[in-house]
Amino acid sequence: LDHHPFNINDVGHLAIGGIDAVGLSEKYGTPLYVYDVSLIRANCRRFVETFEALGVRAQVAYASKAFSSVAMLQVIKQEGLSLDVVSQGELYTALQAQFPVDRIHMHGNNKSANELEMAIDYDIGCIVVDNFHEIELINEILQRKNKTMDVLMRVTPGIQPNTHQYIVTGNEDSKFGFNLADGQADEAFLQLQNSENIHFKGLHSHIGSQLFETDAFVLAAKVLFRKLADWHAEYHYSPDVLNLGGGFGIRYTEGDQPLDYSTHVKELTAVVQEQAAYFNMPLPEIWIEPGRAIAGNAGVTLYTVGSIKEIPGVRNYVSVDGGMTDNIRPALYHAKYEGVLANKAGKTATDTVSIAGKCCESGDMLMWDLPVPAVESDDILAVFSTGAYGYSMASHYNRFPKAAVVFVENGRDQLVIKRETYHDVVKNDISYE
Ligand code: LLP
Repeated sequence: LDHHPFNINDVGHLAIGGIDAVGLSEKYGTPLYVYDVSLIRANCRRFVETFEALGVRAQVAYASKAFSSVAMLQVIKQEGLSLDVVSQGELYTALQAQFPVDRIHMHGNNKSANELEMAIDYDIGCIVVDNFHEIELINEILQRKNKTMDVLMRVTPGIQPNTHQYIVTGNEDSKFGFNLADGQADEAFLQLQNSENIHFKGLHSHIGSQLFETDAFVLAAKVLFRKLADWHAEYHYSPDVLNLGGGFGIRYTEGDQPLDYSTHVKELTAVVQEQAAYFNMPLPEIWIEPGRAIAGNAGVTLYTVGSIKEIPGVRNYVSVDGGMTDNIRPALYHAKYEGVLANKAGKTATDTVSIAGKCCESGDMLMWDLPVPAVESDDILAVFSTGAYGYSMASHYNRFPKAAVVFVENGRDQLVIKRETYHDVVKNDISYE
């Protein structure tokens, strides 16, 4: 509990935003995702206020793939962030939350004509164009509707983590964006510049996720500026915007040492200022797209312990009522988490157990070797830092209904996504006659 932003209350239970987690599990059932909204807000403010203090023009766009729901996007809107959506479903959610359309940016490596048309019909702030096919589609829609659209170009800067260092390769093997090194980006530049209905605002790159240092962003900014300098020299082009993507790391376990978001922002701003000055270009607006860094540490998942299998001298398997259907990250990425027994949070750990999910496969494990006090059926397990890519990657495997989501803030708790029912699970099934 030491490295997670939650407390133990006076009855020895885990408290989330001041509310007893055991009480929440009784009120709403488990598995249950609980978000401490004050932490979401604090994460947003750390980014926004640092840019403000530096006095640079910036947009902090929440990458809604990390966790999107109407309530979440209402909070993001209140905090004055922009929004990154990557699909019609994410855009639809944003519209349902009445998110200001001019602050919505659309991503994706295979945006359909329908998705682009919806983005254009709603006059969203910007489309981050990913490939030549999409330039054609956008142009066709804009011409037909006699409209214009702001566009950023996503490029692949060819930066790859090489254990502790980053290496810049000429050509990166990626499904996203235009490659910088082989002339694709130059060709796209000409097409965008020559498209009457497109306002080409600048470049975008996203180099990876769960990054603890700013060095990869700094490298990316330099690679992008080298290309911008060519276009500046040849065509007198200066970008209005430089979008350096998301990927700011968070703490899942004790070993994770993420940089303060404010330090990231200062270091990023410094390199953009330095590069713009060096190449004698006006300072572009700096955009970033944190997802995990906004939602991750604000979320906790609560489960109820069921069966316990002891294999003497080997391991104790403690099964909970969720698993890979509500958090696929351990199975998919070997992601590590920490947790406590919420009803015994004040007690000292004496045992070591492994937490198994409920799905019918051996890979459905949530945690290995978690230190806990003596564990019994009906204990409530709380897993920390599940706010990003938990609910958003949830599935119906084994026909489990999706869990509920509750927001807590200022001593209040409120359901923001209902638990699915078995009716929901079969609602699209059609009997075969
Ligand atoms: N911008 C772009 C263009 C992205 O592709 C992503 C993430 C982000 C921003 C936000 O990255 P973040 O700040 O959340 O790291 N499902 C994986 C993460 C995949 C991220 C994909 N793109 C996970 O659970 O770790």
